[in-house]
Amino acid sequence: MTHTVSLLNMKGGVGKTTLAVNLAWYAYRHRNKRVLLIDFDPQFNASQYVMDYSAYADHVKNKGTIADLLIESPTLRLRPKQRRPATTACIAHLEHSESACLDFLPSELTLAHVVKNPAQMEFRLEKLLAPTRPHYDYIFIDCAPTDSVLTTMALTASCFVLVPMRPDRFSILGFANLIKTIEAFRENSSDPNNVQNLGLVFTQVRGSSSVEADCMNDIRVQAVKLKSYVFRNTLGYSNTFLTAIQNQTPAFETKYARDDLKASIGEVVKEMESRITQLSANGDTAEGAQ
Ligand SMILES: Nc1ncnc2c1ncn2[C@@H]1O[C@H](COP(=O)(O)OP(=O)(O)OP(=O)(O)O)[C@@H](O)[C@H]1O
Ligand SMILES: [Mg+2]
Repeated sequence: MTHTVSLLNMKGGVGKTTLAVNLAWYAYRHRNKRVLLIDFDPQFNASQYVMDYSAYADHVKNKGTIADLLIESPTLRLRPKQRRPATTACIAHLEHSESACLDFLPSELTLAHVVKNPAQMEFRLEKLLAPTRPHYDYIFIDCAPTDSVLTTMALTASCFVLVPMRPDRFSILGFANLIKTIEAFRENSSDPNNVQNLGLVFTQVRGSSSVEADCMNDIRVQAVKLKSYVFRNTLGYSNTFLTAIQNQTPAFETKYARDDLKASIGEVVKEMESRITQLSANGDTAEGAQ
């Protein structure tokens, strides 16, 4: 069974891309899973994290990106290719073993065209993933920080949503809006996957100030009101993540990284897996959240 998880928060810079890439890498390298990571953001940050510039440029030119799969417009400069390619043709095979793989569907700036021309896009991602879905245990979708048709498409294509969040004041109201957006989507959509909220994961936690601790408590209180789960495991604030992005490596394999920080990524993956099991069995109860 394939679990498709969108990493979503309309607030920018909260660690969606960093978490998405590291979850994907961890699930492949340490859980032996077949993983597809999708960069679904016109900023294409995940693409820059996992592919070096020449490999990316080569891939964009010769194979195409998620934008090629979604956009049909002779006026755009999309590849000099005659027809829209098949999904598999645009997928980069980053790593593989005998039984597992880490595949990647890159993005590019042109994806923004979808936001400007949203007509009839809602089911497009869901549809284009359909044939490839059975090849994967996990599909992680790194979403853009916007409430746009890209969000609707990602939610439509996903079984689960995971909300990375930085513990700051500005996150509190944004969180309430995000949960309402997900709930409204669940109520109004004919989404066949009926997306469920896995909960929020605190990222960039410094753990050294009472202001931050108070803020995390306030967000937890808010989460109880909104019936949303809060992950017990958090990702600390560390330059390790900056180094990892710079070196295009998983943060949990960064040299000289603190052991607790390396372990935290694995702990978030395990907690995510147990949430998926729980939600798949019981529905969305947020039980045991706080
Ligand atoms: N745990 C962390 N510790 C320190 N820095 C981090 C951590 N997680 C992410 N960062 C840094 O914070 C910045 C934002 O992270 P990231 O790009 O993952 O956020 P995002 O939510 O995907 O942003 P956007 O909304 O623009 O897509 C990046 O420079 C990243 O290196
Ligand atoms: Mg991002």
